[in-house]
Amino acid sequence: MVTILEARNLNKSYTTLPDKPHSILKDIHLQLQKGEFVSIMGPSGSGKSTLLYTISGMDQASSGSVYFSGREISAFPEQALAQLRLTKMGFIFQHIHLLKNLNILDNIVLSAYMAKSSSREAVNRRALTLMQKMGIEELAHHNITEASGGQLQRVAICRALINNPEVLFGDEPTGALNSRSTNEIMDILADINAAGTTILLVTHDVKVAARSERVLFMMDGELVADRPIGNYVKDKDNLKVRESLLSKWLVDMGF
Ligand SMILES: Nc1ncnc2c1ncn2[C@@H]1O[C@H](COP(=O)(O)OP(=O)(O)OP(=O)(O)O)[C@@H](O)[C@H]1O
Ligand SMILES: [Mg+2]
Repeated sequence: MVTILEARNLNKSYTTLPDKPHSILKDIHLQLQKGEFVSIMGPSGSGKSTLLYTISGMDQASSGSVYFSGREISAFPEQALAQLRLTKMGFIFQHIHLLKNLNILDNIVLSAYMAKSSSREAVNRRALTLMQKMGIEELAHHNITEASGGQLQRVAICRALINNPEVLFGDEPTGALNSRSTNEIMDILADINAAGTTILLVTHDVKVAARSERVLFMMDGELVADRPIGNYVKDKDNLKVRESLLSKWLVDMGF
């Protein structure tokens, strides 16, 4: 096993009132192995998004360290960190932040043009291949207002994958979707994971977490449990068993 991402003694607090720091992440220790598919669950306000942003270098911790492939990225200057995020990490959010004045293809390729690691022709080809895999290639030259929520989330996944990231982070990536689109997106994420990409997802949805192989549970800024659930294999009955196991754990933990 190769550790791709690690947090050591991670703390994050906000000072909203003078001299009264509000502690959001409390001494988090976490390791993610290359190729793993991990979910983070926990009540609203428990610090899931904050953990995701801090561990991916989008936000700074108050103390502690984050390592990516053995390098301490929490000590990186902002520019180096931005380059690492651009080339090694992909992000999908609940609310898709797409640019309205660009068509769908241009939204997908933008960060690859910025990374400048391949020619624009190669980037466009890769974007169209990704769009084909997601079943949205016919939308390439359309405006984002001409796509449905489920289609836009596929656009967001193509955008997150355009630089071939090593780790894909998602903050409730299916939070705005109906259950059919959620299932389709989860099938896509399973294929991406099977092709070798490490995935870390924040979710409230047991249907989503049941597709991962390990679930982290957060409560009041602390990681209170870290449980493996084995690899998901495409089997509806098996998925139901995993979902009920997760629901039971959530009840047991008082979520
Ligand atoms: N910029 C900020 N300034 C002050 N407090 C913040 C800030 N961002 C988050 N918080 C607080 O940190 C806590 C954790 O927030 P976070 O968004 O990480 O929770 P979450 O588990 O993702 O919740 P949800 O499930 O509702 O998305 C909350 O109490 C929130 O109010
Ligand atoms: Mg959140």
